[in-house]
Amino acid sequence: MSLSHLLQLLTKVGFISFNCCERKAFGRSRLLFKNLLFIRHNSQSEGDAMPRSYSRIVITGGAGFIGSHIVDRIVEESREVVVIDDLSQGRLENISGHLNKKNFKFIKADIRDLAKVEEIVKDADAIFHEAAIASVTKSFEDPIYTNDVNVSGTLNLLKACLNSNVEKFIYASSCAVYGDAEAPHQSEETQTLPKSPYAASKIAAENYCKTYNRLYGLEVIILRYFNVYGPRESYGPYSGAITKFIDRLMGGEPPVIHGDGEQTRDFVEVSDVVEANMLALERSSVLSEPINIGTGIATSIKDLANLLIDITGRKHLKPAFDQPRTGDIRHSCADISKARRVLGYEPKIPLREGLVKLLKDYGEPFRC
Ligand SMILES: NC(=O)c1ccc[n+]([C@@H]2O[C@H](COP(=O)([O-])OP(=O)(O)OC[C@H]3O[C@@H](n4cnc5c(N)ncnc54)[C@H](O)[C@@H]3O)[C@@H](O)[C@H]2O)c1
Repeated sequence: MSLSHLLQLLTKVGFISFNCCERKAFGRSRLLFKNLLFIRHNSQSEGDAMPRSYSRIVITGGAGFIGSHIVDRIVEESREVVVIDDLSQGRLENISGHLNKKNFKFIKADIRDLAKVEEIVKDADAIFHEAAIASVTKSFEDPIYTNDVNVSGTLNLLKACLNSNVEKFIYASSCAVYGDAEAPHQSEETQTLPKSPYAASKIAAENYCKTYNRLYGLEVIILRYFNVYGPRESYGPYSGAITKFIDRLMGGEPPVIHGDGEQTRDFVEVSDVVEANMLALERSSVLSEPINIGTGIATSIKDLANLLIDITGRKHLKPAFDQPRTGDIRHSCADISKARRVLGYEPKIPLREGLVKLLKDYGEPFRC
């Protein structure tokens, strides 16, 4: 067995890992390998609460919905933040409050541009990777583009990490990877059955993350978000049900449900998702396995529509029904026991409270 195979095996079984300098060297030359390993502490396990400090953080997709909320939190903590976003979906106004701050930099760039990504990532010590084509519908329309951004773009970032100071890579995956699971709650052990090019791209990118962890010891955390909602979710043909329903109700029109409305989702407020990301950053080591981020509570789309009708006081508007959409999953709800155990994650915002908060953003009168 060659030295490099031996080291890969030892990394795989968790016996050794590599720090950023070692990874840089490994990225350059395998011959330096034998000087690079350090024995990993035997006690390192699923979640170790020893805090580390990360001061230079890259957030991809930071002008988008979830990314911009992560930006708010990290900038507030006075860490240096660099956002990479091509503004294809995201909006500069989501981060406009930070543009003049000393610890904030926005770079309009495409994560498919490897040279640019390498240049931006080289001085970072952690990455939150949120940039993606985040729409199931769009992925059916253009699976090649979706794959380019979601898979090749992720691979570019992982490759760039090898020649950088990056020690932690937190990847935004999706519950879409489970497809139509039989069990009412999906745990991370539930079989993945992608039902759309989007879901396939997210699981492919997860696999690249795991591979870079195994091969190079890059510390990777994969967070599988369920249905995230909150302020700044963009409105358009690719938006989620909550944004679409609110938009219709505010325009005096009934919400339109695709299918019979009995399909269920686990709606998680964006501040809970940000908190999960912060926990993932602060934990000193978490195995590079997926972790579900949701609430563990299933809500049917029909109940969601009625809840929004109730909150907005537009009782005269009864939900309308349309054809089911291709690629839609029937039931989706997170088993969050692993997130609780490994990250100490606990969702705090109940759906009604989160929706009331969201509606306040619209600035229109409604009844809570
Ligand atoms: N919103 C959800 O409910 C949800 C659920 C599960 C997973 N996710 C994942 O979370 C992440 C963030 O999703 P979101 O809802 O904030 O979506 P979003 O579309 O608001 O944000 C994605 C951002 O990525 C940027 N982007 C797209 N292509 C790019 C490229 N080639 N180079 C640079 N930037 C690019 C967009 O401009 C946008 O700002 C995505 O990875 C998505 O797959 C979201």
